[in-house]
Amino acid sequence: MPEPKETIAIASDHAGVNLKAELKQELQALGYEALDLGPDGPASVDYPDYANKLAEAIGIGRAKRGVLVCGTGIGISMAANRHRHLRAAVVHDVTTARLTRLHNDANVLCLGARITGADVAKDCLRVFLTTDFEGGRHQNRVAKLG
Ligand code: RB5
Repeated sequence: MPEPKETIAIASDHAGVNLKAELKQELQALGYEALDLGPDGPASVDYPDYANKLAEAIGIGRAKRGVLVCGTGIGISMAANRHRHLRAAVVHDVTTARLTRLHNDANVLCLGARITGADVAKDCLRVFLTTDFEGGRHQNRVAKLG
């Protein structure tokens, strides 16, 4: 029996919708199930609404980890971090993607479609998904995040 695929939730705002589509394809190519929470097109939307949808999906167990995209990655990460069960990190390169897993145990990857090119974003995604939390001295610090 093949292992069941892990589901990764993904959402964006209008500025991130094209990069979301590319990252969704990349998730599938890497063997993950992508739970696409929208939006479906380029019509203007408000990024907190989509961060909230992703928070809900993770909160009810539809996915354990997620990906959010807006123009900069900043607004949607701010919205995500209002939810105590999320640790959302804006990353710009594979180093920040790796370190936020190792040190912060981030469970939501945030990317800025106007900042980060698609190839770099896909590299960040791969590293984010395959790097384990280091624990140790970081465990207590992450616990203090609430
Ligand atoms: C939308 O224009 C833009 O403000 C949004 O995508 C994001 O960059 C906010 O942080």
